[in-house]
Amino acid sequence: MSTPREYPSDSGSSGRNPDVRAAGPVGTADRADPGGPRRRYAVVGLSNRGVASFVRPLLGVSVAGRTDTDNSDDSALGYGASADDFSGHGELVAVLDIDRARADTFAATILPPGHPEVPIYAPEQFDDMVRDVRPDVVIVTSPDHSHARYIEAALAAGVDVISEKPMVATAADAARVLEAERASAGTVRVTHNLRYTARHRQIKRMVLAGAIGRPLHVNLDYHVDIRHGASYFLRWNRERANSGGLTIHKSTHHLDLISWWLADAPSTVYAVGGRDYYGPQSPHRPEGAVAAQMRERDPYYLAQRGSGTFHDGADEARRGLFDLPYEVQYPAGKDLYLYDDEIDIEDHVATLLTFASGATAAYAVDFSSPWEGYRATLTGTHGTIEVFTGRTPAGEALPGSGQVTHRPLFGPAETIDIESVSGGHDGADPLMRRDLFVGPDSESEALRLGASAREGALAVAAGEGIWRSIAERRIVDVAELLQIPSDPTPHATRR
Ligand SMILES: NC(=O)c1ccc[n+]([C@@H]2O[C@H](COP(=O)([O-])OP(=O)(O)OC[C@H]3O[C@@H](n4cnc5c(N)ncnc54)[C@H](O)[C@@H]3O)[C@@H](O)[C@H]2O)c1
Repeated sequence: MSTPREYPSDSGSSGRNPDVRAAGPVGTADRADPGGPRRRYAVVGLSNRGVASFVRPLLGVSVAGRTDTDNSDDSALGYGASADDFSGHGELVAVLDIDRARADTFAATILPPGHPEVPIYAPEQFDDMVRDVRPDVVIVTSPDHSHARYIEAALAAGVDVISEKPMVATAADAARVLEAERASAGTVRVTHNLRYTARHRQIKRMVLAGAIGRPLHVNLDYHVDIRHGASYFLRWNRERANSGGLTIHKSTHHLDLISWWLADAPSTVYAVGGRDYYGPQSPHRPEGAVAAQMRERDPYYLAQRGSGTFHDGADEARRGLFDLPYEVQYPAGKDLYLYDDEIDIEDHVATLLTFASGATAAYAVDFSSPWEGYRATLTGTHGTIEVFTGRTPAGEALPGSGQVTHRPLFGPAETIDIESVSGGHDGADPLMRRDLFVGPDSESEALRLGASAREGALAVAAGEGIWRSIAERRIVDVAELLQIPSDPTPHATRR
């Protein structure tokens, strides 16, 4: 198919669920009518995540005669790939990316044969794009720091937004987005997909059903393994200016999950932590190694060898999923190492949070662990819910993984096995996509699975609270960072 050689420069064209054991997938029977008109989507950022999780499902490429081997690829699943086909519900009407070569490769290799040409725009042409193609929805899947400007511009044009998490990279940007949404006919939905994981929905149902009484405390001890964790330090995420740091880029997942379980809003944050695995002071940096020797002598490189997690070198521009090149982000000749001076973010933190209605949380995360997963305990006035899930870097499940245990204060404990579900992020992404592209079903509505701009903003502000608390050695007020009054969502289980 043909694609324009240049960017176009001008227009011209809560309820309670009584059954705390029901852990099945979100159903589709009661969703919005799929025969309705197709919505027009413009995608900003042809990222691994954007292409795997939104663009390909919108194009329905898996049913258009293309091979779909990516679905058996763990790395693609980590970005939410699946064989979903939403081409009957939506159409891709434009893409925008800073990297023209990447966008051209996308158009040449991923658009299915016979698909109408999809115009490609550059960042400064966002307004032209909206004027030219009149999208119903802009999906923002570019690096975190760039979300705010696109969300604000879409809202200014009255267009709905689906934003990848974190909604934005700073609390100040979050405050501006909330203001822009208030003034707009458009709305923002944030892809906090962790809510959709089967065991997380199970826990939410149990909390709503009063299984632990009034929630008092959540303990979440999260570990990101030596491959996945290290990989952030070899990508744009490693600089705060790009990602807000991992306390925003990654922890917004966890902070939102805790807030959602509690149906509450984070109020204050106190944190300690730092950078002790990566960066120039790392104890793992091979002594005296020059760049060329790094891959042979570095324990992180050696531990991921054969998995393809890290890039091989910088003789050519790095390539991502679906073989799309990153000519701008990771050009030929610019190699990145785990020990570079520009790394300026934390790689482990421990945090105490208070919530608006009095609950608390203890949250710790590290990005260099021998296993990946978490232990969580939710404690309430009438009992606890405990969950553990973990796997080795090679993907073997650790014993006891995936079970949820309910321990009523005065009764026998009950352990619930959660079925493992296929699809990106333990089956969360396919369900979230259905909500976004087709519409929420009754369970999505009862559990409030979709995340709003306000919830996205609170997660970002709590994440910024973590790094600010560490840097400034003080308790940080979340509402103050957002310049909004604290106004907690009413707690569903409060008496
Ligand atoms: N919800 C999840 O589970 C999940 C998983 C992975 C990534 N994400 C999010 O998805 C987004 C993309 O992350 P990724 O790692 O897949 O990205 P990526 O590094 O694979 O791709 C980034 C893309 O954005 C383009 N780009 C860079 N700067 C730009 C700008 N200023 N304007 C427009 N385009 C620009 C790059 O050329 C590239 O195509 C991030 O917000 C990330 O936090 C979410």
